[in-house]
Amino acid sequence: MPERKVTISLIKADVGSIAGHQVVHPRLEETAKAALKEAVGLDILDDFYVTHVGDDLELLMTHRHGVDSKKVHELAWITFQKCTKVAKDLHLYAAGQDLLADSFSGNVRGLGPGSAEMEFIERPAEPVAFMMMDKTEPGAFNFPVYRIFADPFCNAGLVIDTSMHDGFKFEIWDIEEHKRLFLNTPEESYDLLAFIGAKSRYVIKHVFARGNKVPKDEPIACVSTDKLSQIAGQYVGKDDPVAVIRAQSGLPGMGEILEGFSWPWLVSGWNRGSHNGPVMPVGLKDNRTSRFDGPPRLFGLGFQIADGKFVGPVDLFDDPAFDPSRRQAAEIADYMRRMGPFEPHRLPMDEMEYTTMPKLMGKLKDKWEDVK
Ligand code: F6R
Ligand code: MG
Ligand code: MG
Repeated sequence: MPERKVTISLIKADVGSIAGHQVVHPRLEETAKAALKEAVGLDILDDFYVTHVGDDLELLMTHRHGVDSKKVHELAWITFQKCTKVAKDLHLYAAGQDLLADSFSGNVRGLGPGSAEMEFIERPAEPVAFMMMDKTEPGAFNFPVYRIFADPFCNAGLVIDTSMHDGFKFEIWDIEEHKRLFLNTPEESYDLLAFIGAKSRYVIKHVFARGNKVPKDEPIACVSTDKLSQIAGQYVGKDDPVAVIRAQSGLPGMGEILEGFSWPWLVSGWNRGSHNGPVMPVGLKDNRTSRFDGPPRLFGLGFQIADGKFVGPVDLFDDPAFDPSRRQAAEIADYMRRMGPFEPHRLPMDEMEYTTMPKLMGKLKDKWEDVK
């Protein structure tokens, strides 16, 4: 009999928050929990966990229907609609922000919510990390995911674990041209870096193992690649990204995964989706944005998946070992803020989510003079 596969789906949306774009209201989480509990009773889900990062509501789900399942995506859509209703009743800020379509049409992709999903044969012990970021974009995962799977200065196993020594296979998406490319590390690392360094256009979608610890066609990491601004054709909030990463036994250890996030790298997003700033890894206690609507936050939960059920979680960054990263992120934020409206703190014009330029150009068009 073929082994039964489990699917992990992490689907998220900003459907309203407290005190501006800071944090999800607990009643939205309660509403989502009730909706997903019903779905367990109806055999749509095996299990679920509801959480948030900043103003984004996060639905962590396990089931048997594969990726892009209409049943599961429709469930997420209806759940976000129910939460939107509560958000509207509470007069929360930007209620229903990410629900861009009037009705559901088969899949949440392109409708506003973001998703990262993987189907695989569950190992006897299956540790999984759920990484969720607020006030940034999908390419924000390029740097840490590269470090976790391809940088021996981050992942010791690449050098000293024979099952990781063969490296990994990266699937890269060009989110403007809607094309994809597969590249192997270590031998194609430089080609890979040439693309993923341009993080607003080329994003890591999946990583696959090249050793024999898990089947070669099974992803071991998946990143959401939804780009809200492209979907809506205008600014509707940053496409805050999520990732799911499997750990241990020939894959990066949980500590090697966390190591990839230990240094506050710079991403675009932050205030008005128009500024570069550092990522601050936080535990539940600090899981909201504040200064200048940021700095961008990273919240992580670790679980074991056991016969399709969640065992856990562990609040992955709620640890003194990450205090220096938080402090450094706060210092970098302070440093960058002093640049105010100047690049590179403010994003280049074509990457800003808010801009007065077209209006300003119109207003001043007759005042421009030719330079002889
Ligand atoms: C960025 C974000 C915030 C808002 C800003 C203005 O992703 O959510 O920085 O862009 O607070 O928000 P509005 O235009 O809703 O007043
Ligand atoms: Mg918001
Ligand atoms: Mg958000």
